[in-house]
Amino acid sequence: ANPPRPALRAADKETFAHFTARHRWRDIIKKAIDNICDLLNSSDIDKNEEGKKIMTSMEELINQIQRNDQLIQIEDDGRSDIVIWTNVLNTYFKDENWFTATWLFAESYLYRRIISIITNTKHWKNYDPYFRQKEEAFKFSFTEIFEFSKRIDELISSSKIKIDDNIIFYELAQISLWGNATDLSMLPNFGNDDNIETKRFEESKKNILVNDLEKAWKWLSKFSNARVDFVLDNAGFELYSDLIFSDWLIQSGYVSEVYLHVKSFPWFVSDTTLDDFDWLLKTLKSNDFFSSASEIEKSTLKKLVDRWESYITNSKWIITSDFFWTSPYSFWHLEEKAPELYIDLCKSHLVIFKGDLNYRKLVYDCKWETTTPFKEAIGPLANSKNALPLLSLRTGKSDLFVGLDEGVEERLGPDKSWMYSGKYAVIQFSEGNK
Ligand code: F6P
Ligand code: MG
Repeated sequence: ANPPRPALRAADKETFAHFTARHRWRDIIKKAIDNICDLLNSSDIDKNEEGKKIMTSMEELINQIQRNDQLIQIEDDGRSDIVIWTNVLNTYFKDENWFTATWLFAESYLYRRIISIITNTKHWKNYDPYFRQKEEAFKFSFTEIFEFSKRIDELISSSKIKIDDNIIFYELAQISLWGNATDLSMLPNFGNDDNIETKRFEESKKNILVNDLEKAWKWLSKFSNARVDFVLDNAGFELYSDLIFSDWLIQSGYVSEVYLHVKSFPWFVSDTTLDDFDWLLKTLKSNDFFSSASEIEKSTLKKLVDRWESYITNSKWIITSDFFWTSPYSFWHLEEKAPELYIDLCKSHLVIFKGDLNYRKLVYDCKWETTTPFKEAIGPLANSKNALPLLSLRTGKSDLFVGLDEGVEERLGPDKSWMYSGKYAVIQFSEGNK
């Protein structure tokens, strides 16, 4: 099935898609080039030479985008998904260029091109060209990282604090949601000052334009020992906030297994790979990454990570990946293109899709009216015989919102930047056909 709507395209001048293709892609590739450049050192001549070749290929990629060239074949790098990319390119995008192809395809293709340049080398094969950004960003969120480690500690040692489970669920789902924002100022604050706490919570709640958390809770709390899946988005702080949520889900007893779906290669700059996952746990435990941390802060974090590692050892948390998450396909095609993954996801009681790109893929990255019902925009994911129970936690970073009430778009004004500022969010639920 295909949606009855035209797709977003970078060719539409007034869109964030256009701005992204014109400016942001270039900046992203340039950053990757700089990261490689900084690693060139004269002691390893072979590696340096290869590094320079990567830099040249990446510069050529920038030129292709700036000239708006036709999309070309991705160089075979031995990854098994190359067949799929070649096939989709030949079937649907053969005569298209960077701006006329659908935004979703062109942007996914860009990240696949970059990884093929890297994979086709000897010394840089496993290099993550965005790692440095991920690492730097994580350092800046120490205050929130520590605040949440304390908070989860309080929440799960129930002798200290008595709050209804649904309230905790709403709170932690919102932490996981705002972990996806570009700017952490929207995060509710769990400091000691009750007034500030309430104010910030109310403030960020106002910006959640659709909030289905009550429905999701009603659904999930029917179960004990349920399975929840997270189709993860970004590494670092967002991943940390997702794990805080996953931690409580296990501790609450409603959930006994959390599947965490990571990407199989670096994707859309900050998405979580298996290496990012391992790095997060290692870093939270390390004594020197957060140089200003006190002894109490360090030991609280260590206790947290010890528990998380025990979940992994005891298969309560299962980290998994699939080619489909880095494929060019919209999630409308999940069942058809990744049948085994789909069958496995059908065992889940709730599949949580994190972030903006996953949202774009859920709704096929089309020009929907903002009042189109969510269940209409996700097509077969809501309507097929085997539709999954799913929840999207997403802050808006693209030209696209669905499921809004009449009048909301008008209230937010004719300047459409609210859609992609990262300040507005949606929490949308579909119970599927279980
Ligand atoms: O380049 C723009 C963009 O692709 C967004 O539109 C996209 O979905 C976002 O980057 C990444 O956001 P997220 O990490 O929330 O998926
Ligand atoms: Mg991302």
